[in-house]
Amino acid sequence: PYKQRLLVVANRLPVSAVRRGEDSWSLEISAGGVKEFEARWIGWAGVNVPDETGQRALTKALAEKKCIPVFLDEELVHQYYNGYCNNILWPLFHYLGLPQEDRLATTRSFQSQFDAYKKANQMFADVVNEHYEEGDVVWCHDYHLMFLPQCLKDHNGGMKVGWFLHTPFPSSEIHRMLPSRSELLRSVLCADIVGFHTYDYARHFVSACTRILGLEGTPEGVEDQGKLTRVAAFPIGIDSDRFIRALELPEVQENIKELEARFAGRKVMLGVDRLDMIKGIPQKILAFEKFLEENSNWHDQVVLLQIAVPTRTDVPEYQKLTSQVHEIVGRINGRFGTLTTVPIHHLVDIALVTSLRDGMNLVSYEFVACQDSKKGVLILSEFAGAAQSLGAGAILVNPWNITEVASSIGYALNMPADEREKRHRHNFTHVTTHTSQEWAEMFISELNDTVVEAQLRT
Ligand code: G6P
Repeated sequence: PYKQRLLVVANRLPVSAVRRGEDSWSLEISAGGVKEFEARWIGWAGVNVPDETGQRALTKALAEKKCIPVFLDEELVHQYYNGYCNNILWPLFHYLGLPQEDRLATTRSFQSQFDAYKKANQMFADVVNEHYEEGDVVWCHDYHLMFLPQCLKDHNGGMKVGWFLHTPFPSSEIHRMLPSRSELLRSVLCADIVGFHTYDYARHFVSACTRILGLEGTPEGVEDQGKLTRVAAFPIGIDSDRFIRALELPEVQENIKELEARFAGRKVMLGVDRLDMIKGIPQKILAFEKFLEENSNWHDQVVLLQIAVPTRTDVPEYQKLTSQVHEIVGRINGRFGTLTTVPIHHLVDIALVTSLRDGMNLVSYEFVACQDSKKGVLILSEFAGAAQSLGAGAILVNPWNITEVASSIGYALNMPADEREKRHRHNFTHVTTHTSQEWAEMFISELNDTVVEAQLRT
């Protein structure tokens, strides 16, 4: 059967690439495909490849996985990825403001970082243009590529372009702080359709366009001189079957047994996060400390397994967070004995997600997918997009309120089996019926419809 061609453009390709020799690479792929489409991925391989031999070899190896690399040199990665994306847009979109220390230096480097951002986006566009065939759908992803829709449409006005944001889109009161606020909005509006995880993020985007650009917001999206950009919410999901099936694998069963033995007689609480300011890891650990302080009967009866994956380690804010977390963990371990850190994924009693802001937070979905026998309890930040879908099953908390998080830990630990069952059932049904596959199909079908409707109007 005919499958529409789909070009997925994201900063990072769904692979990790390790160089084995002058012209050899080993690749590990981390994402499934989109069944209904003939999909190709375009993005940065996450490694610096300065030489042509290496680039040619990597391009060839990636082609087998339907991936096409964009090569960014070290200086560009520094300015575009560490700088504009992860030191400016990421904290701002998560309500952490703009970098504060040495304000003047920040303001001066802002312009060069924004220039690098535009330059990098143009390089992604060049690769898209090289591989584009008429009728393809081009799906741009996330805050790294807000300039891409404009680059693409300037080159080819007939291209079908969608853009999806994986982070929150903040209130227009936050977005207006950004020196490049208008340019970015105008570029995103060049797409045919713009998607967000939640209705609130979509609404914030529309009000940024009305207040900052003076355009007209309609129930369908944003209008500029008769041209409509469709704006809508498309909450993402996971490939839940993959997680459910993995539970049956012998090596996973083996792992579970080991962990059961290791933590026998104790309740286990799990946190899995990238080591990022938005995840509220210090707040989570402080709440656990408070819980232990107030409930001496639980000492030695409960452990917190916190898996914190280092990320964006060249950005100073992330380095600060790492030492801050180590300090608090050290102190609490000193006070209360063991706070174990082991990489596990299954069979825990509670998952603790305390994001201060989070686009969706799929770790909470992955946890739910693995809990059909254990019926573990999910404690979930109300500031994660997932709170809007798992709210009825999870215990929602304000991660800034450490007293509330501490008492939710107590509530979860003491929850009767029938309540666990009921809450789990609610979440499990949602996670297994709102999958990543359906998410992608919905977005692309809306994009196709939007383009047809636009043609009918003209
Ligand atoms: C978030 C972003 C993604 C990003 C991921 C990992 O989920 O929305 O676009 O890929 O973090 O971060 P990294 O900087 O390592 O790609």
